[in-house]
This record gives sequence, C-alpha cells and structure tokens, in this order.
Amino acid sequence: MKTIIEPFRIKSVEPIRQTTRAERERLVAAAGYNLFQLHASDILIDLLTDSGTSAMSTEQWAAMMRGDESYAGSESFYRLKQRVQAITGFKHVIPAHQGRAAERILFTVMCKPGCVVPNNTHFDTTRANIEFTGARAVDLPRPEAADTQLRIPFKGDLDVAALERLIESEGAGRIPLAMVTVTNNSGGGQPVSLANIQAIRDITARHGIPFYIDACRFAENAWFIRQDEAGYAGWSPLDIARKMFSLADGCTFSAKKDAFANIGGFLCTNDDRLAELEQNLLILTEGFPTYGGLAGRDLDAIAVGLEEVLDPDYLQYRIASTAYVGRHIADRGVPIVEPPGGHAIYIDAGRMLPHIPRGEFPAQSLAVELYRHAGVRSVEIGSVMFGANARHELLRLAIPRRVYTQSHMDYLVEAILEVNERKHELRGYAIAHEPPFLRHFTATFRPL
Ligand code: F0G
Repeated sequence: MKTIIEPFRIKSVEPIRQTTRAERERLVAAAGYNLFQLHASDILIDLLTDSGTSAMSTEQWAAMMRGDESYAGSESFYRLKQRVQAITGFKHVIPAHQGRAAERILFTVMCKPGCVVPNNTHFDTTRANIEFTGARAVDLPRPEAADTQLRIPFKGDLDVAALERLIESEGAGRIPLAMVTVTNNSGGGQPVSLANIQAIRDITARHGIPFYIDACRFAENAWFIRQDEAGYAGWSPLDIARKMFSLADGCTFSAKKDAFANIGGFLCTNDDRLAELEQNLLILTEGFPTYGGLAGRDLDAIAVGLEEVLDPDYLQYRIASTAYVGRHIADRGVPIVEPPGGHAIYIDAGRMLPHIPRGEFPAQSLAVELYRHAGVRSVEIGSVMFGANARHELLRLAIPRRVYTQSHMDYLVEAILEVNERKHELRGYAIAHEPPFLRHFTATFRPL
C-alpha cells in the first residue's frame, strides 16, 4: 500500500483548547505580539519546537518505573551507557541535563580564547557556549545552502573546501575541534551526507584535529542518507548511524529531540584524558557521572527512546509527514526552505512578504497572523532572533515527534494557505521594548 500511516496508536490523550479569533487577537496583543509570552493552554497546535515536546511510548513510561535513583552506580545509567555505545561506539558516555550542558562541558575543557571552532552551522546555544570560552564559532555551510529555493539533497553539508582554507589560515593548533550538526537545524533541518562526514573526518585526521558530531537529530539524518545517498538504500538506520559515529571522536547530544525524552542529553568521547576533565567539571555543576543532573528514570526513558527512534517504520513516517506539510504549502505558492528538512518546515517569509522590509520583521508578522488565524504557534528565525546577522527571514514550524496526527497537519496546511491568500494585508512590526541579549524571548512589539 502507498499510504504511510502513524506507526502507533494513541492510549493517552491530552485535550487542546479551541479559541476564537477575537480571543487570540486579545491574547497576542496582551503578550506584546511575542508568541513566547503566550500561555501554552491558549495554543491549539504548538510548533514552537521539536525539543522536549515528544510523546513518550508505553515502553518509555514503563522504563521510567524501573528507574534506579541511586546516587552512584545507578542501573539506569548502565542501561543508557550500553545503548549509547551500541549506537555510537564511543568509549565514554557522560550524561547531562540537556544538550547545552554537554556543550558547555565540552567547550570549557577544549577551548580557550583565540581558538576557532568550525561547524556546518552552529546552533545558537552551541555558538554561545563556544563564545563564552573566548573562542570563535565559525559557520561553514555549503554555498548552495544560501539559496532557499534550490532543491538538492544534503544541503546541510559542511563546505569542506572552506574548512581546508580555515585550517590553512588559522593553523590547526588554533582549532581545538571541528563539528558537524546533523541534521543542520539552523540551516533548515537539512541533512548531512555520509560522504561529507567522511570528508570532514579525512581532513581533520590529517591535521590532528578532533572531530565531534552535534547529534540531536542523528536518526532523522540517517534516514535521509538511506533515502538519498547512493549505496545506502538497503542499510538499516542503526547501521548508518553506527557508520556516522564511527567517523567521529565524540558527540554532543540533546535527548530532547531524537531520543523522544522530555529532558536530558549526553556527551561522548573516545579520549580518556578529556573524559576525566569532563567528569570533574560534571561533578561540579551537573552531578555525579552516573546521573549528570538527571533522575535515573530520565536515563531509562532516553535509553528506550534511542532504540525506538531507529525503527524504519517510524523514520519513514516522520520524514514523510514533515515533507507532506512542506510539499502541500510549497507546491501551492508558499516559499519554504527547499527541500523539506527532517524536524521542521521553514517558510521563507522574506520571500513570501516582500512588501514588509527586513527591519519590520516579516517572519514575526507571519507568526502573529498564523496564531491569530488558526491558533498555531511557530517561531521567527530571522532579524528578531539574529539582528543584523540574520541570513534569511524564516518562520520555523517545528513538528513535535509522535504528537500530532495527519488531520492536525491538514489543518496546518489549510491555515497557512488561507493566510497566504491574504498575505498583502499583513503589516510589519516595530520593537517596543527589548532586553540587552536574546531579545526574541522577551521583546515586545508594536504593529505598524
Ligand atoms: N544543538 C542543536 C542542533 C539543537 O537544535 C539544540 C536545541 C541544541 C544543540 C541544544 O540542546 O536544548 O537540549 O540544550 N534546539 C532546540 C530547538 C532548543 O528548538 O531547535 P538543548
């Protein structure tokens, strides 16, 4: 059969609340036109993030009951360690309360002022944690990624020629590690090919530079490799993931994405000396190395999630359902970052709303209207978030895992197409008030 279905049935449901347009107009005005300031109960479909918002499975809930809450040597930790090692092959597995905690520990140990850390595109917490050590975070996306409309596979690849040039100009001694983010969240959720990971491995190995993977969405990336990269069609997602990790020296991981957990993360390395330094820092700020700031039950939920996410039926459904939303809006005239990524659809609001100048935040305007029209929450990834450094004015619709059904996605498509029909009525916004940093969380706006 052709139809790809949700490979699960629903045992426990959580009501979502319908509101009227008049109510939403009032609520969003009271929130200063900033969707981060809304109460979640006033949202019908919440696509703010795919992080920590997954639905856990019956097996994950059952595993939580098995959680061993011992301070030291918890069985939950050993179950997690075994699962992580079965997938990644890394020697040391260091749990942390979420991805950015793993990043902070890694960069504190490896970076110092004057250093440079390349990546295809750093996620904002990754960049911030690198810069906090005084080092510089450099994005090296492949040049084709600049064209949102170009439909080629593996647009998340790192520009390896640019990496060679960077090593040449900075000197390998100033590059404590190189990274690649799979999938490339800030680059549209686009995947990275195994050929590219291999090329990064070859270059970094030649220069003696450690190579780490930001692995939050490793399973979604593995599915794209199986689907689109020559030679992997018959491979299991697990074998592809193993091959990806075998090319790296370590990884950071936010379990809030592909591990279907509501909290958690870890850091892996093959380097004994680094692991010791990292565990010492972990004890100082996160907790003992067998729990790392998490409850034992969280470790068990992650261990089970890591197994479930590699199920081919799940991954096929996941990637197909994201593409479904993307194709249905893009093929009817809404410009998205092409091709659709794994966890989210990014609307190119700058292109969709050319009558709203960048300085009047077209993606913010679209986010507000999508909420007012249909109760959908999305997130601006453009000039509000990045100021003058924004490359595009994007609106991200991040799709929580196993949470929404096909009819929710059909409703979303209809809502976007209806807003698109009257896009000329949308107006820009000015900032009424902003904090000194990370303004997108708390800034308030004024409609123009
Ligand atoms: N790396 C990537 C690629 C991410 O997408 C995120 C989080 C992190 C690291 C940090 O992980 O949140 O567990 O500390 N991304 C979320 C998002 C917040 O909405 O894209 P964390």
